[in-house]
Amino acid sequence: MRIGVLTSGGDCPGLNAVIRSVVHRGVVDHGDEIIGFEDGWRGFLEGHHRPLTLDSVSGILAQGGTILGSSRVQPSHLRDGVERAKQYCADLGLDAVIPIGGEGTLKAAKLMSDAGLPIVGVPKTIDNDIACTDVTFGFDTAVSVATEALDRLKTTAESHQRVMVVEVMGRHTGWIALNAGMAAGAHAIVVPERPFHIEKLTAVVRERFDRQKKFAIVVCAEGAKPEPGTMHWEEGSKDIYGHERFTGIATQLSRELEHRLGKEARPVILGHTQRGGTPTAYDRVLATRFGWHAIEAVHKGAFGHITALQGTNINLVPLAEAVAELKTVPQERYVEAETVI
Ligand code: F6P
Repeated sequence: MRIGVLTSGGDCPGLNAVIRSVVHRGVVDHGDEIIGFEDGWRGFLEGHHRPLTLDSVSGILAQGGTILGSSRVQPSHLRDGVERAKQYCADLGLDAVIPIGGEGTLKAAKLMSDAGLPIVGVPKTIDNDIACTDVTFGFDTAVSVATEALDRLKTTAESHQRVMVVEVMGRHTGWIALNAGMAAGAHAIVVPERPFHIEKLTAVVRERFDRQKKFAIVVCAEGAKPEPGTMHWEEGSKDIYGHERFTGIATQLSRELEHRLGKEARPVILGHTQRGGTPTAYDRVLATRFGWHAIEAVHKGAFGHITALQGTNINLVPLAEAVAELKTVPQERYVEAETVI
């Protein structure tokens, strides 16, 4: 079979492991021809592609980023994009396309699948917010990076008797904040699922200083917001695709806490460090299994599905189900982490 593969949306540790696995399983076990599209759907629509051979994926398993490049361009955003993609797929004689992407990519993949393109998706995002899969690869790496940063920040915070307000990624959900905060023993965790109340948050941090503790660590997901009307709040701006740009909460919150507590506070934005670098062993294994099962799905003709980890199995889930809702952090998980909400 002739199979196209592309990586779309924000990159994520483990993408190369999927690409490698797709090539190995396809070429070695099925005699497939694998075509890699550059920079996501942009390369697909502009005809930028190259053959992926065993040689071209040699040594990439542990590499961060994606050898194919990525972009946030989705055919459904462009005029006639879906029709052009369909035509291009036919012109190239592709039997299947495997887009590897997050929420936006999977929504676009569903539209194209509905239009008749033979698609098997692979979910990826460090945010871990795809509902039908227990975990997405990249998440474990991001949590490890954030946890190490939090551990390091504790010692400098203690030396200076400061409050560190640490912003992690998570546009819509607080999975990274929750897990890294829990792993590092953060004193407060702020997530998008529950708007925070600044007075309650201040009280938690103050109570810690009252107990003669010398520092406090507050972890916040980038998409978290205060309860409306409880503090002055500046909304983020938009990027060229209309996506919200964050990187504001740590700065705003540290300013507010410093003012309310009379203690030095510093914002730390971990940003894209959470997405860069080599994937953890867990993410490499999950990504490799997703690639293997994507090829199996193609050979079974199970188009319109994505691979998903459910328990210890990799199952196929219809795209419609995969994009129906985001996986948010449930209330019980806040309670376990003693989150300030
Ligand atoms: O979706 C993953 C994610 O890492 C979000 O948590 C974050 O808001 C976004 O990507 C940042 O994307 P970009 O690289 O386009 O700034």
